Amino acid sequence: MRLVLMVITLSIVVIISFCQSKDKKVNQPLPKGSIPLNKVFDPKVAPCMFIVPQLKPLERLDGKGTIGLKAKDCGQCHQSIYKEWSQTTHSSALSDLQFQAEIAKKDVPKWQCLNCHIPIQNQREYFVTHLVDGDILKPVKKNNPGFDPEMKKEAITCATCHVRADKQGKSFIYGAIGRSDGNNNGTNPPHPVKKNKRFLRKRCFYCHNVTKSPIEDRTLCFFTTGQEWRGGPYGPGQAGIDKDRYSGKKDCVDCHMPLTKRKIADLDKTDPDKQIPERSSHLHYWVGGGVPKSFKTYDTLIDRGFVTALKVDTSRITKLVPGKENTFHVILENTDINGHSLPTGDGERFILIEATLRDGDKQVLERKHYKIYREMEWSISPPNLTDNRLNPLEKINWTFKMKLPKELDKSQLVITALHVRLLPKTAAFMKNTPNIDPLYAGKVKNVENHYPFSSYVFKEVIHLKDNSRKKFEMKELIELSKQRKGKTQLDELKRVEAY
Ligand code: HEC
Ligand code: HEC
Ligand code: HEC
Ligand code: HEC
Ligand code: HEC
Repeated sequence: MRLVLMVITLSIVVIISFCQSKDKKVNQPLPKGSIPLNKVFDPKVAPCMFIVPQLKPLERLDGKGTIGLKAKDCGQCHQSIYKEWSQTTHSSALSDLQFQAEIAKKDVPKWQCLNCHIPIQNQREYFVTHLVDGDILKPVKKNNPGFDPEMKKEAITCATCHVRADKQGKSFIYGAIGRSDGNNNGTNPPHPVKKNKRFLRKRCFYCHNVTKSPIEDRTLCFFTTGQEWRGGPYGPGQAGIDKDRYSGKKDCVDCHMPLTKRKIADLDKTDPDKQIPERSSHLHYWVGGGVPKSFKTYDTLIDRGFVTALKVDTSRITKLVPGKENTFHVILENTDINGHSLPTGDGERFILIEATLRDGDKQVLERKHYKIYREMEWSISPPNLTDNRLNPLEKINWTFKMKLPKELDKSQLVITALHVRLLPKTAAFMKNTPNIDPLYAGKVKNVENHYPFSSYVFKEVIHLKDNSRKKFEMKELIELSKQRKGKTQLDELKRVEAY
């Protein structure tokens, strides 16, 4: 009896202390100097300091259970859109090797990077409620019992743009068509929908337009694409450049999610109750500047709609004088298929135009280059040091001089344009970063085998003797870019690094 009592007492003590220790963990007293996040940053001014609060699964309208929030769940019915999304940079915004290397660095506010790259609370093991002394490198973290590891991997997933909670905490879907009232051509989904086209179309600005850093002393993705668009010909209310043709005519979604005709859900076609009409539907590819995040995705780049906005006009290269110094003119233009600067986004990105003079033996005689780029000062705002990127519709005349050989017999002038995303020196830096998530560390070690650093977007070979030309098609350019997988791309870009 005594023993039994002792065991009971002991177990009670153990249980109580266990509960206490657990409680202690959950209700951990805040460290001294903790300031709530919304007292450090104004959510209206710096939305990227906050995440979308935990979302519950969608309640089915027919009462038959719930619909999960993962892209995979949506994809059970929205198969084509799911397939498109799966190939995008949005779906790989977490597995991106450069991103993984950067968030492993010590002095980076990782939680803050994750706010845009995995922005929903469901995707977070922990989330940040306070900052000690308001310092972004001293976050006070709270464990998230509702963490969904699968949804985390999906990065910028369907729910990022489409799912929010109402005042009662019930999840619903933002759509732009609107539920049918029985008479109109509205939709008939099994999940709740609120019609709000504006909400959906404004999503892009949340992440692609951080024009002013809320933090003065740290790096952050400083992307001004929205501002570039507003100030450009397609921006609302722009006067000047052919207003009727451009202003207010195209926003981010018009260009990056073009329309097609199809059923927007792919339900069982054999069940007549499930028949749905064809509609105007937006492709979910968000193709950008043509440097994909894997070598495999080069293969679908053209089908996904990639067209370069850069026009390289070499038609003014005529009447060359052998044995003399000649002046060359190449016109570079950001064409009207683009709505912002070229290039846009990350400050590390640039476009490199090169003119290479080769003799009959393919020896390089001379090389000239022009770099289109923006140099950023990361630690202060405003961030631009240099910016010669092409504004929308801007055209420039790149002029250079070269001395031609006496015999033009087999001489060639090769003009190329390379869209560069990553340089070997940054790759070396990535490789030397310790503590990268083991899931990605192996790939980062030989990043050149997995991650395209740049893509050719133009190549023309001019035979100087008779001015005959070979201009490469996009398909051939993609093949050239793809072939550089591995050490080749490191070697090729080493030269470029010196510019
Ligand atoms: C069980 C099948 C099913 C699942 C799962 C599902 N949907 Fe739908 N959804 C539909 C159907 C059916 C429609 C209506 C199609 C129509 O009428 O043309 C629809 C319509 C929509 C619309 C357009 C609504 C409007 O009126 O503008 C959006 C947006 C949408 N779904 C997003 C999602 C997202 C995001 C998920 C995942 C979180 C999801 N759906 C999961 C079946 C589904
Ligand atoms: C929650 C943040 C977020 C939202 C919202 C968002 N994006 Fe993005 N977008 C990103 C991130 C992060 C990347 C880059 C990921 C990477 O490089 O790994 C990206 C990449 C892109 C790219 C480049 C693709 C490429 O080929 O490299 C385009 C184009 C793009 N987004 C367009 C849009 C448009 C249009 C919208 C609005 C409909 C939008 N984005 C909404 C975060 C966002
Ligand atoms: C970066 C934001 C973003 C993400 C991520 C996203 N969508 Fe969309 N989606 C939009 C926008 C913007 C529209 C079009 C709004 C309009 O009509 O003006 C749209 C439209 C739709 C529609 C309505 C039909 C159509 O094609 O116009 C469906 C259905 C849909 N999305 C489903 C999905 C599913 C499923 C996923 C994930 C696999 C997803 N979306 C991911 C922004 C997004
Ligand atoms: C008039 C069409 C148009 C509009 C409007 C437009 N874009 Fe683009 N965008 C393009 C084209 C074309 C490219 C590819 C440029 C190139 O050749 O590198 C591009 C490239 C991009 C890239 C990828 C950059 C890279 O180097 O990979 C991002 C990100 C992007 N756009 C986001 C946006 C966002 C966000 C908006 C709205 C604020 C927007 N775009 C508005 C046409 C447009
Ligand atoms: C305000 C939202 C936002 C925040 C915060 C943010 N990013 Fe990004 N990130 C983006 C967007 C949008 C893109 C894609 C831009 C583009 O393609 O033009 C991107 C792209 C990237 C890329 C790919 C660049 C490339 O050229 O392909 C890396 C790497 C990256 N981010 C790292 C980080 C790190 C590290 C942090 C934290 C210090 C961070 N991001 C914080 C929005 C954000």
